[in-house]
Amino acid sequence: MILRQENKNDHKDVFSVIEKAFKDAEFADNTEQFLVERLRKSVAFIPELSMVAEIDGKIVGHILLTKLIIKNKSTEFDSLALAPVSVLPEFQGIGIGGKLILESHKKAKELGYKSIVLLGHENYYPRFGYERADKYGIELPFEVPKENCMVIELVENGLNGVNGMVEYPKEFNE
Ligand SMILES: CC(C)(COP(=O)(O)OP(=O)(O)OC[C@H]1O[C@@H](n2cnc3c(N)ncnc32)[C@H](O)[C@@H]1OP(=O)(O)O)[C@@H](O)C(=O)NCCC(=O)NCCS
Repeated sequence: MILRQENKNDHKDVFSVIEKAFKDAEFADNTEQFLVERLRKSVAFIPELSMVAEIDGKIVGHILLTKLIIKNKSTEFDSLALAPVSVLPEFQGIGIGGKLILESHKKAKELGYKSIVLLGHENYYPRFGYERADKYGIELPFEVPKENCMVIELVENGLNGVNGMVEYPKEFNE
């Protein structure tokens, strides 16, 4: 399996991977493929952090990290949103999602980012090092259980002194 940056020729396949991955997923609204299309045109988009997993020339997975800010009364902090991560149903459960997550962490760290925020399943993401966001005084703008709002420090003390409300790119609300 190859993990690499997505390029223009991949857009159609990535659309289809996301659509199929979320088709029967819990808590999905089945519009995640359109969210990715909007985010590619956003100022929050970082080309290096839209990555695909490819097996024998076939795209089987995709992950996207985009810029967001964590904001309190006095300061704004740069961070990243992990959303969405998708693996074709017939390729799920064999570690591809995990590899994409770890590779995206590596790349994000190389680019100088210190943390990532996500909304996700409380049993899946902690194995990669995600912790509850409220532990850091970080809030996500969703009415969901606190255990689903998670963050990870990509470097030691990456969230030192960081707290406030997460502001997602506006494309998340469209
Ligand atoms: C979530 C997803 C990306 C994980 O990719 P994957 O390649 O199947 O995951 P891995 O093989 O690395 O890990 C498998 C583990 O993840 C767990 N897992 C997979 N999807 C999960 C989900 N939605 N919620 C909770 N756990 C999940 C499996 O139960 C398995 O756990 P185990 O190791 O304890 O048996 C993939 O299942 C998928 O595309 N799901 C549909 C889309 C989705 O829900 N995306 C996440 C929201 S952004």
